[in-house]
Amino acid sequence: MWGVSNDRRAGLRCREVSDFTYRHGFLHCGAVSVPEIVGAVGTPAYVYSAHAIRQAYRALDGALGSYPHTIHFALKANSTLAILRLLRTEGAHADANSGGEIEAALRAGYDASQIVFTGVGKTHDELERAVALGVKAINIESDGEAGRIDAIARSRGVRARVALRVNPDIDPHTHAHISTGLRFNKFGVPIAFVPALLRSFSDRRGLQPVGLHVHLGSQLTEMEPLAQAARALSNLARDARDAGVRLEHLDLGGGLGIDYAGGATPDAAWYADAVLPAVRAAGLHLIVEPGRYLAAPAGILVGRVADIKTYAGSPKFVILDTGMTELIRPMLYDAYHRIEAVEPRHGLEDVCEIVGPLCETSDTLGHQRLMGPVEVGDLMAVRDTGAYGIVMASNYNRRRMPVEVLVDDHGWQIIRRRQTYDDLMALET
Ligand code: LLP
Repeated sequence: MWGVSNDRRAGLRCREVSDFTYRHGFLHCGAVSVPEIVGAVGTPAYVYSAHAIRQAYRALDGALGSYPHTIHFALKANSTLAILRLLRTEGAHADANSGGEIEAALRAGYDASQIVFTGVGKTHDELERAVALGVKAINIESDGEAGRIDAIARSRGVRARVALRVNPDIDPHTHAHISTGLRFNKFGVPIAFVPALLRSFSDRRGLQPVGLHVHLGSQLTEMEPLAQAARALSNLARDARDAGVRLEHLDLGGGLGIDYAGGATPDAAWYADAVLPAVRAAGLHLIVEPGRYLAAPAGILVGRVADIKTYAGSPKFVILDTGMTELIRPMLYDAYHRIEAVEPRHGLEDVCEIVGPLCETSDTLGHQRLMGPVEVGDLMAVRDTGAYGIVMASNYNRRRMPVEVLVDDHGWQIIRRRQTYDDLMALET
């Protein structure tokens, strides 16, 4: 089980960003009761708080303070257009990981010059598009990719703005599936090969080196690895300058974790304190690419109890109408998400397996959870699902993608309607 941060144990600064509270016996998102929303849109449903997203953005932006910086929201965490527009209004730029995410950013109103494009295995078409658009930076993954971008740019008579993604071989102390900065991970150029590759850029007329990039991993609750990565990039930038390569920015990627146990999130100021000294020493503009920190606590997944099984000798199964098709994190990473009754009943608690309706034994959202009395028809909220929830959803078992709702100061609105069976089969002969 992972996802529980060690921030309180370490006595570090924390801040609560949730906008989900119980009032009059019901879970509310801001001022709106969750039963009111799902009464209208049905279940499963993702419900997001605009307030929580803004609050998290402002906390991070404020923590980075007057140091020149730009926050590029990692679209892979949540790329629903209304969420992207909301963050753009706050001043966010975009971090895209595919042609599809570039397209989503553009459609949400981001300018190409506000997009950084990262990704292992970028295709020729994706690189063509990024070069043609003139994105802020293409984060280069390898010597081979540098050559391909150079060729595309020269054939178009332009210079592509590029940053080099460094693999610094630093252990971020997170789940193995979401560690990216160790030398046996597939990401970036091993740090020992970076200086030579940077110098080779001067022979490539199609490339304009503008930065260095690193992303250590996700759900990081220790800041020292991030500080180490910032120092490594800062040193590389200094060496590059000495070799005549003038860079504009250091991009430290994303990774800032949250407390899935619901205590409080790691403080953005803690993050800023960890990374700013090294960035300041380099004197370069800072780019960060947070995803989870901005979006995860701002979302819940709401499902309804479809059945309950209580046979002697077997666990008590509470079966929801939502599962791994809407939220795969518990199955993929053993991730812990709080699961709460939307309208808690009074009575004795029981240990339950909270499971979904899919034909998979792994379709378990919560293992051995202590729950109050539950009845068929009750609503359950799976917390902290605003990031890596809807974006990783699937149509397995021919299930339809769920509806998404955004709650803002003036009420709530559907920001993605539930898929219909016609939508589901529209592409097939
Ligand atoms: N930048 C790059 C280059 C990344 O690869 C990622 C995440 C981010 C930024 C954003 O990281 P964040 O701030 O959200 O930690 N599906 C997994 C998470 C995979 C993250 C992959 N890269 C999960 O559900 O935990």
